[in-house]
Amino acid sequence: MAKSIDEIRDRALREIESASDEETIHALSVKYLGRKGQVTLFLRTLAELPAEERPAAGKAANQAKHLIREALDRAAERIAASREKDDAIDVSLPGRPVRRGTLHPVTRITGIICEIFGRMGFEVVEGPEIETDYYNFEALNIPREHPARDMQDTFYISDNVVLRTHTSPTQPRVMEQRTPPLRIIAPGKVYRCDSDVTHTPMFHQVEGLMVDRKVSFGDLKGVLTAFVHRMFDDQTSLRFRPSYFPFTEPSAEVDIRCVACRGRGCRICSNTGWLEILGAGMVHPAVFEKVGYDTAKYTGFAFGMGVERIAMLKYNIDDTRKFFENDIRFLGQF
Ligand code: PHE
Repeated sequence: MAKSIDEIRDRALREIESASDEETIHALSVKYLGRKGQVTLFLRTLAELPAEERPAAGKAANQAKHLIREALDRAAERIAASREKDDAIDVSLPGRPVRRGTLHPVTRITGIICEIFGRMGFEVVEGPEIETDYYNFEALNIPREHPARDMQDTFYISDNVVLRTHTSPTQPRVMEQRTPPLRIIAPGKVYRCDSDVTHTPMFHQVEGLMVDRKVSFGDLKGVLTAFVHRMFDDQTSLRFRPSYFPFTEPSAEVDIRCVACRGRGCRICSNTGWLEILGAGMVHPAVFEKVGYDTAKYTGFAFGMGVERIAMLKYNIDDTRKFFENDIRFLGQF
């Protein structure tokens, strides 16, 4: 019997010696010292031994128990120490570079647009993206049957609340709060229920509005020409095409000479030599009346441009969706 406890002890010590993780240590502790462990079971058999063998066997078993417990403690310490070493900082390794963030191209272009107009005395304001039917349509002289109000284009939150379809609602919002003269620029997100290569359901616009005595279409042309010359270069010419918006009269769509081919005609300008960049016009008297401006005293112009459109031309990007795919390799180039 005494020989058998020696065997249990030796095997236990060998197994503990080669254990390399805490789970194994725990399992070995249960295997040998647990309630049904081999040493425990051996101690229970002592009573069956002849009386003269008991003291020696008992002593051997208790010693074995003691040795095994000590070995378990040492092994646990050894494992903990080696893990600490693994976790320690190796100061000789080259550091992991911290990636520098870059501004999103839309953010960059918005900043440049605001800066250019800022220098011309335009103040940056912002309006809500969740907008009432009143400011998005009604106050802008957009009649009930206007296609922009169609569910196909507009995200309705409720009968009278929409996701703004353009930044133009900032016009009546600002005019209600102030009296002319005023010059504001309003960048922000807009939403339309539309999605393909050239349309994303959310995109960005910058609205511009100037109201004062004697503001003319010539002022609109001058301001937009100065803008285009700074945004692109002063060789870039502009073209005003008659158009229609319910909140401006007269209205125009403004094109610039194709920045890629300089007007010779290419894929980017669909061989027309021109690129449309914004909508504009003289503020419609009906809009002034809604905000209580005296139409005999004041005139004004407004314009709205798509930021992604400008960014695509400026950075030579061909797919609008790239702006919103969050691909760091794409975004890091700007
Ligand atoms: N809000 C118009 C659009 O989204 C653009 C525009 C703004 C036109 C201001 C005229 C004046 O298409």
